[in-house]
Amino acid sequence: MTLACGVDVGGTKIAGGVIDEDGSIVEELRVVSPATDAEAIEEAIAGLVLELRSRHDISAVGVGAAGYIDKARALVMFAPNIAWRNVDLKGELEKRVDLPVVIENDANAAAWGEFRYGAGHDVDDLLLVTVGTGVGGGVVLDGELYRGAFGVGAEIGHMRVVPNGILCGCGNHGCFEQYASGNALVREARTSARGGSLLARHVLDLAGGDADKITGPLITEAARAGDPFAVEQLAELGKWLGEGIASLTAILDPAVVVIGGGVSEAGELLLAPTRAAFAAQLTGRGHRPSLEIRKARLGNRAGLIGAADLARR
Ligand code: BGC
Ligand code: NA
Ligand code: ZN
Repeated sequence: MTLACGVDVGGTKIAGGVIDEDGSIVEELRVVSPATDAEAIEEAIAGLVLELRSRHDISAVGVGAAGYIDKARALVMFAPNIAWRNVDLKGELEKRVDLPVVIENDANAAAWGEFRYGAGHDVDDLLLVTVGTGVGGGVVLDGELYRGAFGVGAEIGHMRVVPNGILCGCGNHGCFEQYASGNALVREARTSARGGSLLARHVLDLAGGDADKITGPLITEAARAGDPFAVEQLAELGKWLGEGIASLTAILDPAVVVIGGGVSEAGELLLAPTRAAFAAQLTGRGHRPSLEIRKARLGNRAGLIGAADLARR
């Protein structure tokens, strides 16, 4: 059985794994991402791969990176939340690890992982939405990963949902990811807490009284324990997500929408409001077959599992 290495480079962490042909993880490593320095990120990725290669017979490396990847799957042209501008990531990594490397957008890789081995295994057309630092999109159409003419299709995080809205890392205002990402969730909760909201009191206490220490996992944990403010914050996020997915469905008509990324760990606390907003906003609702919105089954490992499989092809 051939083994491939999959790497997922997010805004905050880098995860690497050795994956077999069944999509199972043989070994996995994680490091904090040095997100401000492109070369340090390359070194960190290479370090992970070399360590895994020292213990396993790896044939290829697939890297899912949170940015705009060119059609040749080599160049990171632009990354809204990482310090990459026109970086030949494939070349830099091949030089360091001496294995064939394929670069793919992180959400595309996750979509492929869920399509091959996870929540989309039973359909041919799916949209994957990652809710993390940013909002990523991956589209599988008729069993093929959709890349677009220049490799940068499905950048759903940067569709404009609010005219002249919040400034995005991409330089535009009002992008979807400023309202539907984990960062948006945290930003809103911190703002309420700093503003002295009585509702936010319990969440602020959980963060030791320091609004800067409010995180996504903390909000999810508080919501699970029934804190009404935390529940409401996730519901608000779900509303944005559901409405965005309704618009995307008007274009793509997928059979399944898979919600992944760190915030999807909140499960029904996020998915129920997402489904409700989707159902309320879908054009032609009641007169068309309706898709299913499912939680990512591979969780935050979808990206590295998908990237490894893409590298093997
Ligand atoms: C980036 C995408 C990426 C997504 C999730 C967005 O800000 O533009 O390329 O897939 O974040 O990481
Ligand atoms: Na994408
Ligand atoms: Zn943007």
